[in-house]
Amino acid sequence: MSQVLTGNWNYPTTIWAGPGRIAELDAACSRAGITRPLLVTDEGLAGSPIVAAALAGLRHAVLFSAVRGNPALSHVEAGLAAYRAAGRDGVVAFGGGSALDAGKVVAFMAGQTRPLWDFEDVGDWWTRADPAGIAPVVAVPTTAGTGSEVGRAGVILNEETHQKKIIFHPLMMPRVVILDPELTVGLPRAVTAATGIDAFVHCLEAFCAPGFHPLADGIALEGMRLIHRFLPRACADGTDIEARAQMLAAASMGATAFQKGLGAVHAIAHPVGSWFNTHHGLTNAVILPYVLKFNRAAIADKTDVIARVLDLPVRGFDGFLEAVLSMRRDLGIPHSLAEIGVGAGTASTIGREAALDPSAGGNPIPVDAAQLEGIFRAAVDGRLEAVAGPA
Ligand SMILES: [Fe+2]
Repeated sequence: MSQVLTGNWNYPTTIWAGPGRIAELDAACSRAGITRPLLVTDEGLAGSPIVAAALAGLRHAVLFSAVRGNPALSHVEAGLAAYRAAGRDGVVAFGGGSALDAGKVVAFMAGQTRPLWDFEDVGDWWTRADPAGIAPVVAVPTTAGTGSEVGRAGVILNEETHQKKIIFHPLMMPRVVILDPELTVGLPRAVTAATGIDAFVHCLEAFCAPGFHPLADGIALEGMRLIHRFLPRACADGTDIEARAQMLAAASMGATAFQKGLGAVHAIAHPVGSWFNTHHGLTNAVILPYVLKFNRAAIADKTDVIARVLDLPVRGFDGFLEAVLSMRRDLGIPHSLAEIGVGAGTASTIGREAALDPSAGGNPIPVDAAQLEGIFRAAVDGRLEAVAGPA
């Protein structure tokens, strides 16, 4: 029996999910109070049929597409210039994580007078922002991974320091999200796999992060179950609309859950992405088992719960680790960071910056720079057996 794949949800924001719902983009802008949108997307999508169709269905839209992977301050500044020159009153953020983050941060900065780095996610710095200067956003993801469409932050690279900074404000949450699985059918298999594992890591790190948050835990568990079941199908047949729809939902669930926290996978992946310009999802996918092994003593019970929810043949930590390794293998993810062009020459810098990354605070075991450097070195060389966490 085919499952109805259409739904309107209202948490954590207004979400219109279902095949073909990109046709409601103009209505979504009206709902968000946008009459003159800047459509922000990335260079790779600029000439694509899905962007052309989105623009055709929008009245009075202006396109800005000078965004690349791991978006930087210069992309935000160029987007802001386009926004102001064309007299815009909101943003349609359209694409993968880079375009969504860049679009959200452009909208956030639209009416601010302070420089971007004043709004880094440190303490209560977000209260420095003028809420009246934050423009509304409609978010349209074209990958199922980042979940940025339901997030209250954007990750922007500081090109001078080579550090990724999280820009946070509660009002950065998009007003309306369109989850249309038809927009993701053209994603290549490798991108589908890497972004899908990013979503899995969001759920996993959120579930394993310490703290009392049963809402996040429940969403994270179901997100992992959906990804474990549907990511292989989406990779095997990119036109499988049910798999694509479930993956889009699971990606939004991952980002909803990680309000609880992330962990050392993301803490290491952020500086690796900053220094080596690697794909975020792919970086996470490679690093994941090394961090799992390090965290073993603290996550044995939780991974047993996950193993039961995923109905794995072998329960407990060992069964879960084996399932992660085999999922990674089946999806064509390399086992070492060296295979994606990352060397150990910067290991001490990566360890130091990973320890400073806000994600590190969510790791189930407190982790310092030397330990993060050790995990990173093992991941570069593909030496999973060399990782041993605290007993
Ligand atoms: Fe991520």
